[in-house]
Amino acid sequence: MLSVIITTLNFQGNSKLDMPSPDISTQIAGIPLDNCLYNASGAWCTSEQELTDLAQSAAGAYIAKSTTIAYRAGNPKPRYVETDWGTINSMGLANGGFDFYLSFAREKAQQLGKPFFMSVAGLTLENNLDMLRRLAQVDEVAGVELNLSCPNLPGKPQTAYDFQRTEEVLHKVFKFYKRPIGVKLPPYFDIIHFERMAEILNSYPLQFVTCINSIGNGLVIDIDKEAVVIKPKGGFGGIGGDFVKPTSLANVRKFYELLKPEIQVIGCGGVKSGQDAFEHILCGAQAVQIGSCLMKEGASCFDRISSELRALMLEKGYQSLDDFRGKLKVNTDEEKGY
Ligand code: DHB
Repeated sequence: MLSVIITTLNFQGNSKLDMPSPDISTQIAGIPLDNCLYNASGAWCTSEQELTDLAQSAAGAYIAKSTTIAYRAGNPKPRYVETDWGTINSMGLANGGFDFYLSFAREKAQQLGKPFFMSVAGLTLENNLDMLRRLAQVDEVAGVELNLSCPNLPGKPQTAYDFQRTEEVLHKVFKFYKRPIGVKLPPYFDIIHFERMAEILNSYPLQFVTCINSIGNGLVIDIDKEAVVIKPKGGFGGIGGDFVKPTSLANVRKFYELLKPEIQVIGCGGVKSGQDAFEHILCGAQAVQIGSCLMKEGASCFDRISSELRALMLEKGYQSLDDFRGKLKVNTDEEKGY
């Protein structure tokens, strides 16, 4: 009864409408973002035009397509397909090359005035170290996401599924790299794997992890043609979109629980509404990336999703992301027998 009265008073007194618009700003590695939403690397961020679209959108930051040292045309098309439950991709690291994104950072991103991140995905460890040695001197790139999880290169394993290899990479990177840096992780599905990876990450001074990359090596079939829908790798590709949200939320949550507080978790996977973004933040996400939905809807999705997130926060009486970040309610009296 009481809540009915309060709701009525709120409505009649218009009090929620009088509240200031909720603040959805955040920071990543101390870099301020006026909006916690931005693009997932790979989605609409390969060309100068796409990057400019992102810079001019409501996104709080933007990150370029994972870069190799040299330009790559990528895999044969079709290599990206949308279904009603999500997407499959095998782009094959099609990208403009390191110098292209570095020039964009220096010549364009500066004027566009929004934090610009680069994603590094060298074909070898030495390539990654070469690019990072150069980035270690560059002020115009706000931060770097080191991609340890590309699933689409024939013959190249996803680094972060190999714990020893991951240690070796991080050991070499942190010998010299001192600027804001995080890693993009693949999804994990076993608690032991979360624990092992968190233990490794906790022993290095990285500032963030992004969870998750696409679910690697899925297969989508066209029943009429009795054929795969994408051309590369026998039709195998990374799965994104609606279908991956429970997996991405689980990864955000588990790493939020296991990582030391200095390492932030950036949520990525299945976000297409304000509610989805809210769920990621409730699990502990510091910021939220958008991939498949951005590809489908274009850069205006940031405006729509941030309005939905603000409306949901207003409805719940939250003023800032800190009011609910990580505060997912779980049953605490169960036996810890697992
Ligand atoms: C590609 C896909 C990924 O998931 C990734 O992290 C990097 C590159 C690609 O196919 O281009």
